[in-house]
Amino acid sequence: MLNVSVSAARPDADALVVGVFEAEEERAGDLPGLRQALAQGYRGRVGEAVVLYGEAPRRIVVTGLGLKDKVDGRATRRATAVGVRHATAKGIRSIAVEMPTHADWPLAVIEGAGDGLYRFSYRDDPEREDPPAVTVIMDSPHPVALEVVQSAELVRNWVNLGSNDKPPERLAGYMTEALAGADVAIELFKVDQLKEMGAGGILAVGQGSGSPPAMLVATYRGAPEDTRVLALVGKGITFDSGGLSLKSGEGMMTMKTDMAGAAAVMGAVRAVARAKARVNVMGIACLAENMPGGHAQRPGDVFRGLDGKYVEVLNTDAEGRLVLSDGVALARRRQVAAIVDIATLTGANMTALGGAYAGYLTEDDHLKRSLEAASRRTAEPVWQLPIDDAYKQMLKSSIADIKNIGGRGGGMQTGGLFIGAFAGDTPWAHIDIAGMAYNQEAKDGKAQGATAFGCALLADLALEYFGDA
Ligand code: BES
Ligand code: MN
Ligand code: ZN
Repeated sequence: MLNVSVSAARPDADALVVGVFEAEEERAGDLPGLRQALAQGYRGRVGEAVVLYGEAPRRIVVTGLGLKDKVDGRATRRATAVGVRHATAKGIRSIAVEMPTHADWPLAVIEGAGDGLYRFSYRDDPEREDPPAVTVIMDSPHPVALEVVQSAELVRNWVNLGSNDKPPERLAGYMTEALAGADVAIELFKVDQLKEMGAGGILAVGQGSGSPPAMLVATYRGAPEDTRVLALVGKGITFDSGGLSLKSGEGMMTMKTDMAGAAAVMGAVRAVARAKARVNVMGIACLAENMPGGHAQRPGDVFRGLDGKYVEVLNTDAEGRLVLSDGVALARRRQVAAIVDIATLTGANMTALGGAYAGYLTEDDHLKRSLEAASRRTAEPVWQLPIDDAYKQMLKSSIADIKNIGGRGGGMQTGGLFIGAFAGDTPWAHIDIAGMAYNQEAKDGKAQGATAFGCALLADLALEYFGDA
């Protein structure tokens, strides 16, 4: 478990990570060696860190926040992560973090520390058994953010696992284990129960795999006097080969990460539940493996989903929306107050936003405001894309209620709106994290691989939605 804590006073530590603003020489006086670093060209740009050697603490890692009037949560999270990773790379065992922006961006500092500490390998790594300790210096602890750090570690581990190590039922087991001890009601629907309830989408996607699909529902009621429940529905494709609409070999190389939405959902539920936040959330993980084979669904197949709609499947690689349609339909059947789905859904989202933002869709003001606020605080960037009848028209089927692909353009929107069709009148938002869930290379103080994008965002969204932020 990553070791991140909060303290009001500066603790004894082997190293101090300090954030500095670009072009702020005024600090040079109290940081031994900084004057020299500045003379040698150090500028404090975001992402730049340098180690100074002094007495107590013996090492100071100066990490750049960029210009003071431009600083925000993203600069803060990135600077913290870069500073912490810089320190751990030097073998430092205990790290104090002092960011001048902590009062404005406490969540960004705490999550940044987690970003900087995380590492993953199948190989033995003694440091993972006994990770360095980070103490963030700030006045008030944020219990949910501190829980998010550990939830995000689990999320990253699940996403980084090879698909051979996380078939749907086994992944559901890992998620259930992570929630044990928190006050969360667990329901696991396996194939027989999915058949009974008519979850045609999850079954259709899963039928080509030797590993059966499953749906995991985790409900936490921390505000029992409030009748509202916020449903978080995550795409949990443990491997996306495309099915019979097969992907290229290259296109499959990162498709073990296609369960990142479901992972983020369960991470967020775990964090708010362990912190005993005053919110009601229902996490729904729609788990299946999308494989070709003799039992796989075919282009042209029609299935009937959980809500009774007939769905024409014209491309088996548009599978995330199929499993999510059942999860969203279940949430609606349970009369939740609002539904947020999150998914590595479309290449079109990556094309539109280039991996810098998660695109989102919603027509609900309360969800939009909550999501934007959570995004700013957690430094997990989102950008709204338009909803329009033109996109809905593209999903019209000649023989069924809806088809699973649109036309040539607007792929993020048609993918999202397919899912929204199952929310009915329930307030709904869709977050496409394709391009955000996984980094090919180490970046911004984060390790190569899974980012846990969405875990902090959804946990904080729940707080904001219930007015507990
Ligand atoms: N999981 C993919 C989307 C994806 C692609 C995520 C690359 C991360 C990186 C999704 O299931 C998919 O295959 N989407 C298709 C939809 C299309 C067939 C309508 C896509 O975007 O090409
Ligand atoms: Mn696909
Ligand atoms: Zn997929």
